[in-house]
Amino acid sequence: MKKIISVVGARPNFMKIAPIHFQFSKYKNTLSHLICHTGQHYDEKMSKIFFDELGLPKPDFYLGVGSGSHAVQTAAVMVAFEKILSAEKPDLVLVAGDVNSTIACSLVAKKLHIAVAHVEAGLRSFDRGMPEEINRILTDTISDFLFVTEESGMQNLKKEGIADEKVFFTGNVMIDSLVSNLPLIDASAIRSQLQIEDTEYLLVTLHRPSNVDDRDSLSDILGLLNKHARGRKVVFPVHPRTRSNIKAFGLQEEIAPEVILTEPIGYIDFVHLVKNARVIITDSGGIQEESTFLGVQCVTLRDNTERPITVSVGTNHLAGTDVAKADSVIADVLAGKVKKGGIPPLWDGKAAERICQELIQHSLS
Ligand code: UD1
Repeated sequence: MKKIISVVGARPNFMKIAPIHFQFSKYKNTLSHLICHTGQHYDEKMSKIFFDELGLPKPDFYLGVGSGSHAVQTAAVMVAFEKILSAEKPDLVLVAGDVNSTIACSLVAKKLHIAVAHVEAGLRSFDRGMPEEINRILTDTISDFLFVTEESGMQNLKKEGIADEKVFFTGNVMIDSLVSNLPLIDASAIRSQLQIEDTEYLLVTLHRPSNVDDRDSLSDILGLLNKHARGRKVVFPVHPRTRSNIKAFGLQEEIAPEVILTEPIGYIDFVHLVKNARVIITDSGGIQEESTFLGVQCVTLRDNTERPITVSVGTNHLAGTDVAKADSVIADVLAGKVKKGGIPPLWDGKAAERICQELIQHSLS
């Protein structure tokens, strides 16, 4: 019996691991698939709700590391995960995305000579000021299996000298979760709960340190939201980092009444809001992909994206972090200068199946 431990830590990991877990479950006579939750995200609404909604089992291991500086958080995951690996001795550790738990666990596994598979490999923003970019580069460098979501990832890995035989273009597992949950997503009652059923609304998410950790940037962005809230609603589920900064900077009073602030929203309700929004304003990575798949216009408040296919093929508009520029991009999109958008190759709901097949063929049989 081969043993695999998949790692989840932060919110965007859960919907990436769920479809992989369901694929591995088909081989339970020959594969034992265990899930380790590092506890990087721990609030009910940042973590447990996703397990429940996605049908993931309770994690086999919970490290409970919580928040902290990058060094504190990464080191805490490493120390706790090494104990799990030493006891369990799995054949493979599977990590996803670019969060601190991703690099922490792959590094520990590699040093114990355990093979590492990285799901969502090869993405690059080329901005080394982003903690995620460091996590991506380091994880890809030491991984044995690199599963790529879009063509740019294949090119990036080639340029970095990663051997072709380690790299597999398998598509986007986040879209697998979206596709398999579409009936529930369509049935969500969140718009009636927020009383926006008959209203055009903008959906906003913000959590990048570059946008929300600086008072002036956050204040400027809130001003931008107020402006575009005139005559329509703005729905803004607030990430804990952003909520604590709004409070710390004393910006609560600057937010217009048309801006509906909510707690973080669960997966099904959130994707329902994405699907029905007039425009999305975000700095998230995953939402750029979900909006592209759903054909919804997305304005990204960043200077770069590690997911360029959402701009070249999808509905994403890269507006930068200069609010005047972002303001004119949002105004253009609202005025009808929209992108028709297409669905990128292999974003078809079958990425996890391809990943599982490659692993069985190359390592787990
Ligand atoms: C992390 C990831 C980021 C990802 C994001 C998704 C890294 C470096 N960053 O950023 O790539 O896009 O998750 O949400 O891994 N907090 C809570 N409750 C929680 C979790 C966090 O209150 O359940 C608060 C804490 O005050 C914490 C802060 O949010 O200090 C930031 O959490 P952290 O995990 O450090 O980074 P994120 O900003 O969430």
